[in-house]
Amino acid sequence: MAQAIGIDFGTSNSAAAYLVDGRPRMIPMGPGQMTMPTTFFFDQETRRTLIGEPANQALLDGVEGRFMRALKRVLGTSLMHEKRQILHERVTFVDIIGRFLNQIKTRAEAETGLTFDRVLSGRPVVFHGQDDPREAQAEQDLRACYLAAGFTHVDFMPEPQAAAIASGALDQSGGIGLIVDVGGGTSDFSLFRSGANGVEILANHGVRIGGTDFDRAINIDRVMPLLGKGSVLRKVMGDGTSPTPNAIFNDLATWEKIPFVYTPQNTRMVAEMVRLAQEPEKLSRLATVLEDELGHDLAFATERGKIAANGGQDDPRIMLDMIQLGLSAPLTPQDLDDSLSRHGDQLSEGAQVTLGMAGLRADQVGQVIYVGGSSLMTMVSDRMRALFPDAQHSFSEVFTAVADGLAIAANRG
Ligand SMILES: Nc1ncnc2c1ncn2[C@@H]1O[C@H](COP(=O)(O)OP(=O)(O)OP(=O)(O)O)[C@@H](O)[C@H]1O
Ligand SMILES: [Mg+2]
Repeated sequence: MAQAIGIDFGTSNSAAAYLVDGRPRMIPMGPGQMTMPTTFFFDQETRRTLIGEPANQALLDGVEGRFMRALKRVLGTSLMHEKRQILHERVTFVDIIGRFLNQIKTRAEAETGLTFDRVLSGRPVVFHGQDDPREAQAEQDLRACYLAAGFTHVDFMPEPQAAAIASGALDQSGGIGLIVDVGGGTSDFSLFRSGANGVEILANHGVRIGGTDFDRAINIDRVMPLLGKGSVLRKVMGDGTSPTPNAIFNDLATWEKIPFVYTPQNTRMVAEMVRLAQEPEKLSRLATVLEDELGHDLAFATERGKIAANGGQDDPRIMLDMIQLGLSAPLTPQDLDDSLSRHGDQLSEGAQVTLGMAGLRADQVGQVIYVGGSSLMTMVSDRMRALFPDAQHSFSEVFTAVADGLAIAANRG
């Protein structure tokens, strides 16, 4: 039978792999690039949809158009099937994500000379929440995207399970391991026992928290106050003041909502806020961000600041020169901690729930294996070390382990 491809469609980055002589091989997404940013850019002038690195470059270059990221988070919501006007065309998110997956399919076929009609796709253990009505719909939506991309057979496997299979291919010791996959949109856990015949999955669990939530929390706490969040407005009539409404700041800090913030209503509302503000210089920055469509630039700057602060850089800051030359927001380790500690609590709880599902104690877990870009946050491994002090902690190929495991599982006889 023709080979199936394994695709890890990620919130932030995507990757694909297939098997060569029984071993997974990544599809190169560009020179030296094993993953592709899950990003889109609708170019106003050329009317083309750019995908991945060229989309990021277009945003960076200030090309006229619409940028989108974190669309995986939209799966399962009513937005998926609504036709929306994006510049010159009316499309649904199913069409848009379908284009992205088609690009991976086309690239994989050109690279390998094979035809891939079958795909084993990763999926988070939980997209929204176990009892959430959007949960089942999210997988159906993702399937629709793969069909739109031209695949004829679509199967799914939980992402951490795929990572467990990839790690089990290297280790057959019989011990119990825990995959902790903290990506851009979700955190997923797989408890497994490795053995000569591959891995036995003991429990899968997930929570909807990832690096995009870390970015959002940091952005809201550190950047948005510079744009007037938490400041006050004079009342239109009478005396007294009222606080600025939070919604616009929250949306502007939420990756998947940014493209929808630039509306004439918001522009008018912010102009009025500038007029009534006690600190108009801050609200004027918000007006600039709307006018110049700088939401994604702020979000990327926040993400860079997060990674720099986590990496122990001296005087870590979120650089905001795109709004105003010389403007920046300090981001100390303490600030990072303050913004992310509640997410850390949710991660600890997630790991404990996974243990409970398998009826295991923490001291029975011999190794904790980290997957996903956000597992590089010190906060994540600190939390896991506190829970599993006796385990061996190691990092997998954080960006490619899931795709590797999918390629193996897709073609198991
Ligand atoms: N060096 C780093 N330190 C901390 N965080 C990082 C680092 N590099 C990347 N990240 C974060 O990792 C996240 C992306 O990770 P990854 O590519 O594993 O996610 P994904 O697979 O696309 O998402 P998901 O699996 O949740 O759908 C981003 O939020 C990014 O900010
Ligand atoms: Mg991932």
